[in-house]
Amino acid sequence: MVVITGASSGIGAATAEAFAREKARLVLGARRVDRLQAVAEHCRRLGAEEVFIRRVDVAQRVDARAFVSAALGHFERIDVLVNNAGAGLSGNLIAQDEAEIRQVIDTNLLGAVWTSQAALPAMISARQGVIVNVASVVGFRAMPYSAVYSASKHGLVGLSHALRGELSGTGVKVATVYPATTRTEFFDRSGGRMGAMVYPPAWVARSIVWAARWPRRDVVVVPYRLLWWAEPFLGGFIDHLLGEFRRKNDTAAV
Ligand SMILES: NC(=O)c1ccc[n+]([C@@H]2O[C@H](COP(=O)([O-])OP(=O)(O)OC[C@H]3O[C@@H](n4cnc5c(N)ncnc54)[C@H](OP(=O)(O)O)[C@@H]3O)[C@@H](O)[C@H]2O)c1
Repeated sequence: MVVITGASSGIGAATAEAFAREKARLVLGARRVDRLQAVAEHCRRLGAEEVFIRRVDVAQRVDARAFVSAALGHFERIDVLVNNAGAGLSGNLIAQDEAEIRQVIDTNLLGAVWTSQAALPAMISARQGVIVNVASVVGFRAMPYSAVYSASKHGLVGLSHALRGELSGTGVKVATVYPATTRTEFFDRSGGRMGAMVYPPAWVARSIVWAARWPRRDVVVVPYRLLWWAEPFLGGFIDHLLGEFRRKNDTAAV
């Protein structure tokens, strides 16, 4: 069974559809239940064997754990957990308020902590399972004027890599997927600005399905692999370059 958080839109919904085409059994969670219902209906039409939806706010520890427990109650075994729920936050760090900052960290980082903690005992006793964490290219290349969002995704990458070591030999795997700019509701909600090169969510979904099937440590889309390799040598220079670029081209960066 495949559990996906943040399945009510964008990459999460596309991932649910990609797994549905593989005839998977799905558990879909997010806060907007009407949107989840529509995604579930579409997944059934695409061939999903069974789809169970449940409202969850992953930023709330008790809620996130109850969501995973309900999934286990329904299907008994979790084969794949996709920690995809996420929120962005754009602009000058000085101007951001505490509630916005906490919401980003609580959702993007702690949400994955709570769902993983809840899912791991069953995965470890079954000696199988994959956790796929949906990070971002800003998880290895921090973006000026998205400092808290970058920090949340760097944190998620650290969580993934450390967990791989903790779980080695248990049969449970952890993979991290790093999407670049993807055409979803993300930028409408976070107030950021889409770059020139925009991926369709179905592409990212396909990487997530591959990562679940062949759990590599890090799954980075091809052109961004160059940035990944350049980071240790040119990172300091790129910090300034991106800062200047965003100040000149982005009204949110002031
Ligand atoms: N779009 C991009 O360019 C891009 C690039 C790199 C990485 N990503 C990452 O990809 C993931 C999916 O984003 P997206 O682009 O598909 O944006 P999206 O369309 O806005 O989807 C975000 C999903 O997360 C859910 N969500 C947000 N807060 C939640 C919470 N507290 N509890 C449960 N669910 C929550 C939303 O559902 P509800 O509002 O219904 O709860 C929605 O289903 C995120 O982790 C994002 O950081 C996106």
